[in-house]
Amino acid sequence: MASIAIIGTGYVGLTTGACFSHLGHDVICADVDADKIARLQAGEIPIVEKGLDRLVDEGIRSGKLSFVLGAANASKDAEFHYLCVPTPQGDDGAADLSYLEAAAAEIASVLPNNSVVVNKSTVPVGSTRVVARVLGRSDVAVVSNPEFLREGTAVSDFLHPDRVVIGSGDQEAAIRVAALYARIAAPIMVTDPVSAETIKYASNAFLASKLSFVNAIATLCEAVGADVNDVVLGMGYDPRIGREFLRPGPGWGGSCFPKDTRALAKIAQDAGYDFHFLNEVLRVNDDQFDRTAQKLIDSVDGAAEGSHIVALGLTFKAGTDDLRDSPSIEVLKRVTAAGIRVKAYDPAVLADNNSLSRIYPELDIEIMPDPYSAAEGAASLAILTEWDEFAWLDFDKLAEIMIGRNIVDARNLLDPSVPRRRGFNYRGVGR
Ligand code: UDX
Ligand code: UDX
Repeated sequence: MASIAIIGTGYVGLTTGACFSHLGHDVICADVDADKIARLQAGEIPIVEKGLDRLVDEGIRSGKLSFVLGAANASKDAEFHYLCVPTPQGDDGAADLSYLEAAAAEIASVLPNNSVVVNKSTVPVGSTRVVARVLGRSDVAVVSNPEFLREGTAVSDFLHPDRVVIGSGDQEAAIRVAALYARIAAPIMVTDPVSAETIKYASNAFLASKLSFVNAIATLCEAVGADVNDVVLGMGYDPRIGREFLRPGPGWGGSCFPKDTRALAKIAQDAGYDFHFLNEVLRVNDDQFDRTAQKLIDSVDGAAEGSHIVALGLTFKAGTDDLRDSPSIEVLKRVTAAGIRVKAYDPAVLADNNSLSRIYPELDIEIMPDPYSAAEGAASLAILTEWDEFAWLDFDKLAEIMIGRNIVDARNLLDPSVPRRRGFNYRGVGR
């Protein structure tokens, strides 16, 4: 078993560290956030990830997982050094590598001989060379090992991946990193660093393209009177299309797709290729935010002055507490900009929670403790995130407490006959 330092304990770093310790490696995780480290040392998990709390608890008890403040304190005794710090989108669309370079600079002088530094964060094509330059250590190999973790299923995605991708110009370093995954049953693909980095971006951009396509098909379905659920079902029988990732919605979001799709378009542009297809994928997504917002605005047409919409779901998808680049928020920004009041409920966003105001200080919506207190006196109701509990709303109760009868289901979560039987007007997406 190996000794691994994890630099950055966010959704990616904490999951990577906990899973590696579960696989038997000795893992020490570092962060710059002292409060986060203190909470982790106490076994507190600051994010919602299924199964992560059990793995962190198991790792702390076995002594295989520990937490320290500062990257150097983790790297000084480790053989492998996983960089999991943020690579946010810069103003020009390119990924901002300042955190990555700062982390590399911090560990350069303490890395034991013959260490391997691994880029786990999503980094632009060519970043392996950037990290190697910052490290300035000829005895240290730098390897790309991109993450393919979906939030909400990150633990399962790590332990049961479709593939492990390793990008390295140093065969021996690639073999050493591949050995970390010895207990995982998945194909391990070794390629050069640039190809590995491109696989990550191309995979996310392809998935985002598939979603923009299905959202555009949903718009077409509305125009021609087709039912998008049947259309995608019929499409999905073809294994070349596949059944996954064909659910239309309010648009796609999260901390990865928007950032990575824009970054790839910028990488292409900087390399002399105008990836206009990808720019169109992004435009279709913005268009979907606009369309969904317009449905909500239309739903309060004619309602009394000062009426409000109840918005169910704020996170970027169900199963996570992450609000970063959430489609729900993109839609609600447009709705509140039109002067409409919004009362929102999301099971992962507590009413007294300041996460929303911290990330979106300009968004003026009221967060309520449950769907029904939010629906009191509402002119219309919108489902923006597909939390399972919203599929079981009590429409008899809603008919009593709401003053309007409009439902906008931006995730096609409901059986339209249920609200319709109780006198509601139902609008889905693509049907
Ligand atoms: C981040 C990137 O957003 C993603 O593109 C990449 O693939 C993996 O890392 P995520 O884990 O979601 O994804 O980031 P976040 O949840 O923001 O966590 C980053 C952690 O790094 C935070 O705990 C932050 O305190 C820490 N950090 C940040 C450092 O330890 N050092 C720094 O210099 C900056
Ligand atoms: C994504 C990739 O799936 C993952 O492989 C990569 O490592 C990180 O980025 P994530 O952003 O966590 O993972 O979420 P994902 O489940 O892919 O959803 C992204 C967005 O697409 C969400 O807003 C979600 O609501 C939306 N989506 C997803 C749809 O609208 N319809 C679908 O059928 C699937």
